[in-house]
Amino acid sequence: LDNGLARTPTMGWLHWERFMCNTACDTDPHNCISEKLYMEMADMMVKDGWKDAGYEYVCIDDCWPSMDRDPKGRLQADPKRFPGGIKKLADYVHSKGLKLGIYADVGTKTCAGYPGSLGHYETDAETFAEWGVDLLKFDGCYMPKWTLLAEGYMNMSIALNKTGRSIVYSCEWPLYEWPFHQPNYTAIQQTCNHWRNFADVFDSWTSVKAILDWTAAHQSLIAAVAGPGGWNDPDMLVIGNFGLSRDQQETQMAMWAIMAAPLLMSNDLRDIDPQSRQLLQNRHLIAINQDPLGKQGNRTAKGNGFEVWERPLSEGRLALAVTNRNEIGGPSSFPLTIALLTNWYCCNPQCNATQVTPKYRELGVQNPFTPLHIMVNPTGTAVLVITPIKGQQYTPQQ
Ligand code: GLA
Repeated sequence: LDNGLARTPTMGWLHWERFMCNTACDTDPHNCISEKLYMEMADMMVKDGWKDAGYEYVCIDDCWPSMDRDPKGRLQADPKRFPGGIKKLADYVHSKGLKLGIYADVGTKTCAGYPGSLGHYETDAETFAEWGVDLLKFDGCYMPKWTLLAEGYMNMSIALNKTGRSIVYSCEWPLYEWPFHQPNYTAIQQTCNHWRNFADVFDSWTSVKAILDWTAAHQSLIAAVAGPGGWNDPDMLVIGNFGLSRDQQETQMAMWAIMAAPLLMSNDLRDIDPQSRQLLQNRHLIAINQDPLGKQGNRTAKGNGFEVWERPLSEGRLALAVTNRNEIGGPSSFPLTIALLTNWYCCNPQCNATQVTPKYRELGVQNPFTPLHIMVNPTGTAVLVITPIKGQQYTPQQ
């Protein structure tokens, strides 16, 4: 969507995967969906270097509203859990130099059964704008007919635009259309700043693998439409929770960078281990994710249980991810020569190669035929950046 927003993938925090629909504030005040949760996350974002690393949006997901609209037909926050209301919360988040995201649904109800926006798009867009909201995640549950999804998502896009406030528009339109037909990605890209294609992420390696496999299987369709203002959204980062091993966390962060995905963490920033924090704040991976060229990477090779993904970067550079998808054995090396890559011309006749994760190592000057021995742990990923040696790169005629 060409609204001047999300020129690079959105970075922030989103409550769903970690906190879900926990409304039990009486028994679990520390983790329930309440204004306190977002205020504490905002505090942590500033205090622990998240904001400095680029994470900016603090996002509310489902289960924030009251079950009833107010007498004027407007959505309202649950009064017990959000005593100050959303506007106050937005002011608080803004006072920290951060932005606030909220959640609503294109249909009659949200996925968790709270009031939907169908028939109220303009009112809800105006309400969010008045509150000072900066991002809307618009879910796709409970649409009376799937054929109404396109119109619904487009009308909300128009309604948001009409408010005059800058509001990032995060859609789930293709996810809800896939069971019926192949979504129209041109229309989606013109309507939304990012869009979910595939099932919800869970805190597990099975889930992360399924997302990667789905993305690779559909890359010719979906990667082509991604770019500044519009991104494929493979869902939240679950790094720092319970389900992924060290190496699997490395893989999620690396691949979300290669896929030019929104980096929306769903974890507890008040209680996160230092290794997960360092990985989520890794400046090399964030720089790849936020590269101004805005080209989504693709899987370009597969073999021996390994996968190679390539993402062209600005200034003729290339990011390269090598994932070891074997789930048996120890660290193994994948024989790699740049000549075999789709983007081999980033190294013609020479280039510099640097491994940025899991350990930073300069590999020095390469030619396309130098064998690169990259050792990768099972289920882990190594990321390399290839930089052409200036004055020598060859760019093929388009
Ligand atoms: C759907 C979405 C999730 C989350 C839940 C909330 O499943 O895909 O990301 O927003 O609804 O109910």
